[in-house]
Amino acid sequence: MNNIQQTLSIIKPDAVERNLSEEIKNEFKNNNFDILKEKKVKISKSEAEKFYQVHQTKPFYNDLCEYLSSGPIVVMILERNEAVTENRKLMGATDPTKAEEGTLRKKFGISIDKNSVHGSDSLENAKKEIDFFFKD
Ligand code: CMP
Repeated sequence: MNNIQQTLSIIKPDAVERNLSEEIKNEFKNNNFDILKEKKVKISKSEAEKFYQVHQTKPFYNDLCEYLSSGPIVVMILERNEAVTENRKLMGATDPTKAEEGTLRKKFGISIDKNSVHGSDSLENAKKEIDFFFKD
């Protein structure tokens, strides 16, 4: 049975800076994701703090927010069957050194911070994250 979902994907500053956006977008398309909307933006540190609010008690929160606001990012709404889970599978483990062969973070990630892509971790967060970037 089909369960078409939408999820939010971010191509992070390390990947945009290395001109990997088109290659990463093609990976999504080749894995049956439709890119419904996309835009390239640069967010402020306070916007990053809001976006990553769920991590505010974590020791890496400040660095994470500094990093996401350090350069342009590409944000996209991805759609396919089971989009949330399938995107997380395609991205691989958060730490690129632990990510499986063939995953985006294994292919493109540099470190746990500079791990090239973000994807929503649940359907509930996907809705919140899509709203965050594409409300209007
Ligand atoms: P992301 O999927 O964007 O969600 C939160 C980010 O925090 C994560 O990817 C990592 O890039 C970053 N991060 C940095 N340190 C850690 C850590 N120790 N555990 C999990 N995420 C971390």
